[in-house]
Formats: sequence, structure tokens, C-alpha cells
Amino acid sequence: MDLMQGIIARAKANKQRIVLPEGTEERTIKAADRLIADGVADVILIGNPADIQKLATEYGLTNIAKATIVDPKNHAKKADYANLLFQLRQKKGMTEEKAAVLVEDPLYLACLMIKAGDADGEIAGAMNTTGNVLRPALQIIKTAPGMSCVSGAFLMFTKTPQYGEEGLFVFADCAVMPNPNAQELASIAIATAQTARNIADIEPRVAMLSFSTKGSASHDMVDKVVEATRLAKEMCPDLKIDGELQADAALVEKVAAQKAPGSEIAGKANVLVFPTLEVGNIAYKLVQRLGGAEAVGPILQGMAAPVNDLSRGCSVDDVYKMVAIACNQSIALKAAKK
Ligand code: ACO
Repeated sequence: MDLMQGIIARAKANKQRIVLPEGTEERTIKAADRLIADGVADVILIGNPADIQKLATEYGLTNIAKATIVDPKNHAKKADYANLLFQLRQKKGMTEEKAAVLVEDPLYLACLMIKAGDADGEIAGAMNTTGNVLRPALQIIKTAPGMSCVSGAFLMFTKTPQYGEEGLFVFADCAVMPNPNAQELASIAIATAQTARNIADIEPRVAMLSFSTKGSASHDMVDKVVEATRLAKEMCPDLKIDGELQADAALVEKVAAQKAPGSEIAGKANVLVFPTLEVGNIAYKLVQRLGGAEAVGPILQGMAAPVNDLSRGCSVDDVYKMVAIACNQSIALKAAKK
């Protein structure tokens, strides 16, 4: 069974409620139909019910009738959610008037449903920017206990089985936090290790990447990675992590033997944590485009409930997979709470 089949099987075995705020978007509604048919998730579509019905008929989607449809302008809990938003954000300048408007915004409504316990996770971004998907989630759902920031990981299925976990890696942060400080970078490392365990189904060996290996260069940017590694070890003593390491020392045993002798991670890393978003975002795209790797993500991590952002170029299959991944994240978050 390949990794994605395992993720889908786990989702089916413990169905989660996933809200799709872009309920009238073609790829989203087509994915929703397949997810319902396959029993992967209980799907909640946000959108005008008549529009959703019309699209379902046009595309021949017979399973949409089994989705829960929430009309953002008219539903039983609208006033409750507006009040919840006002309560959560009044110290940040939210007024009752503003909340009454924002509650009709599907991206805000989806997060409020999760916060109120009416949904377990959200997938959006087929027609909204990353910032617009993330902002309400960061404001309303917030970080999970013990996490200081939200970040975005990619599963990278590379064509180099001699490295990582037979070619599989988890890369982060590639999507959210432009310039994390040492504390935030430590939090990203821990969250990425959890993603490796819960989603990629591998035992994480985390490399904290830099342009220096074990003091070969000195710079503030190197110090940040060294401090983040120390903090991550302090926060999670059992975590297999090392840094600062250059990418070749992290991946290649021969280089590791020269540059970082005695390290239990160097030469064997399967989780790569990048020092800034610039590096992480550029690196994953280069590995994908020049190296021919399949990139699955971004999987947002560190949030109190899963919210995953799609690329606007996504396919129906991408939406389907990201829903299954969100279900697995939700299952893991619920298990961690127990
Ligand atoms: N983790 C946790 N909370 C955060 C984070 C984070 N990483 N970033 C912001 N927040 C919180 C803030 O604390 C704040 O909370 P508060 O209002 O309760 O005080 C709230 O979110 C809003 O913070 P702002 O700093 O005002 O956030 P802003 O909306 O300006 O930016 C955002 C947040 C959208 C995530 C921004 O950092 C961003 O645009 N990042 C880059 C996203 C991107 O473009 N990625 C690349 C493309 S994705 C791809 O290629 C796969």
C-alpha cells in the first residue's frame, strides 16, 4: 500500500468533518463528490445551495446531495458565529458590525465552524491566495498547545532513493513564516517531525539546515539555527535532531563523515528544516521542477485544527488528497489531546 493509500484508509476508518469554503468552485465540488462517494470524509460545502445544486447537476455529481451545505448568508447559527468572532477578536478591534459582515465570508465562516466544534478541518485556496486562507485561521483557530507558530510542510517524493527515507522527505517551512526567530524555528522543527510521523509515516531524523556545518562559518544567521536546535532538543528531548548542517552534510553519508563526524542525523536526514521561508519555498520548487520530485502540500502544521491551503493551479486530485491529509491531521490532534 503506498503512502497516500494509507492516508486515505486511515481517513475512511475514522471519518472527520471537513469544511470546503469554496463550495461553488469546480475542482472543489468535483473532489467533494468523490470524497463522499469513497467515504473519505463528511463534507461540508459553503455556498449558495441553489448554485451548488446547479453545478452538481451540470457536472453530473450525484453524491453532492449527501454533503452538508451551509449558505453563508442564511443559516441557523449565523448569529452565534458572529458573536463568537466578536468575542474572540474584540480586543483586536473587532466590532459587532464588522463581525456581522465577516461571518458571511466563507473563509471566516469555515474557521468559526471549526472553532465552535462544528467541523474538524478546512481546505481552501483553489481560488483564494495563501494569505487570505491563512489570516482567518491564524486569527480564529490559533496555534496548537506548545506551538509558537504555524508553518507549512511538503512531502517530497524525490527520485533519489539513496537519500532520506528511500527518497521521501518532509521539507518545512516552505509556506508561511517569512523569517522565524530561533524559538519559532524550534517550533517549526518539532511540528515538522510530528508531520513526518503522523502523515508521512516515518520516524523523523531532523536536519536544521544552514550554510554552515558545525561551526564552519560564523554569522548571526548560523547562530539562529544553532540556538533553534538547542531549543528544540530542550523542548523535545527524545527528538532525533541535529544542526547546524549544510544540505550535503545532512544528506550524504560520505560528506557527513567529513563535516559532522559522530552526528546521528548527518548523512541520514529525512526531515529538512530551512532557516527562512525564502530558502524553504525556493528549495522545494527547485527540487520539484529540476529534480522531478512530487511535492504534496503545503500541509499546515502547528495549528490547533487542520487548515490546508491549495495552490490555485490545483487539480481535483490535489483537493481530494489534501482533504485526506487534513483528516489524518485531525485524527492525530484529537489523539494528542486525550
Ligand atoms: N503562526 C501563528 N500565528 C501567526 C503567524 C504564524 N506563522 N503569522 C501571523 N500570525 C498571527 C499573528 O500573531 C496575528 O494574530 P493576532 O491578530 O491574534 O494578533 C495574526 O496572525 C495576523 O498577523 P499579521 O502579522 O497581521 O499577519 P498577516 O496577515 O500580515 O500575515 C501571513 C500572515 C498571511 C501568514 C503572512 O505571514 C504571509 O503572507 N506569509 C507568506 C505566505 C506566502 O505567501 N507563502 C508563499 C506561497 S505558498 C506556496 O508557495 C506553497
